[in-house]
Amino acid sequence: MDNAVDYQELLVASMAAALRTAGTGRVADYIPALAREDGDAFGMALATVEGEVYGVGDWGRPFSVQSISKLLTLILTLAEGGEADLWQRVGREPSGNPFNSLIQLETEHGIPRNPFINAGAIVVTDRLHSLTDGHAAQAVVDFLRAESGNPALATDQEVAASEAEHGHRNAALAHFIASHGNLVNDVDTVLAEYYAHCAIAASCEDLARTGLVLARHGLRADGTRLLTRSEAKRINAILLTCGTYDAAGDFAYRVGLPGKSGVGGGILAVLPGRAAVCAWGPALDPAGNSVAAAAALDAFTTLSGWSVF
Ligand code: DON
Repeated sequence: MDNAVDYQELLVASMAAALRTAGTGRVADYIPALAREDGDAFGMALATVEGEVYGVGDWGRPFSVQSISKLLTLILTLAEGGEADLWQRVGREPSGNPFNSLIQLETEHGIPRNPFINAGAIVVTDRLHSLTDGHAAQAVVDFLRAESGNPALATDQEVAASEAEHGHRNAALAHFIASHGNLVNDVDTVLAEYYAHCAIAASCEDLARTGLVLARHGLRADGTRLLTRSEAKRINAILLTCGTYDAAGDFAYRVGLPGKSGVGGGILAVLPGRAAVCAWGPALDPAGNSVAAAAALDAFTTLSGWSVF
């Protein structure tokens, strides 16, 4: 990366922009175990392809990764050679609807619009469950541990149980998809795997280090190739167009990077060839994206001039 850039100063300025959003947004409460988070907490980490890591605020504090795990299941599904079959079962178009919407599934024959809305992620989890002989969530945990170097990282079982208990919407999506023959494995098994990977607790540092796989165009931390360059490009493209749901246009406009959000308040963004950056603040906008994390990433790319455009 550009040696003249003071990354720490850039993160401090990004955090200042995030803190100015204090008091706006709402912490997710449809998963009750997430509702205890302090809405004004904030952290941000930057990991460069040269191996440097910088952070501000609560950048080492684990939070619920939620839908950021959908990026990891997609990476692993492609890495396991599951791509060809997958794109007959899930699309690659933005949905323009909320992440948990049921509406398009009915007219689109149980084929979810993209892998990042809940319906699409349930299909990807089903595919990964088959590819890993029943260990989809564990594969995500193992991948995060290996890339982050943090062996303590794990599913928060209390959050997973809370999601399952209040998961009527996801159960409806999964059963509807299954009614169209688009789930291979048993609905309850797939949902349990889905909740287990959404409920993984990881920090901004863990996620930024893991996101480097996409910044390195498919290379893992140990230098081995996980994805082809083309697969990494394709995942980044879907991240840009679908990673923040019905706010993907606004996120691309403001931040200009591929990014994946989660209702735990994290957003992981990729600067291909340069770095991965993860910001976290639990209070969400109406689309389910962190207000503070989006503001921080907006400031980060505005101040640095880095973007895919
Ligand atoms: O299934 C759910 O609703 C959650 N486990 C994940 C949703 C989510 O993170 C949406 N992202 N912003």
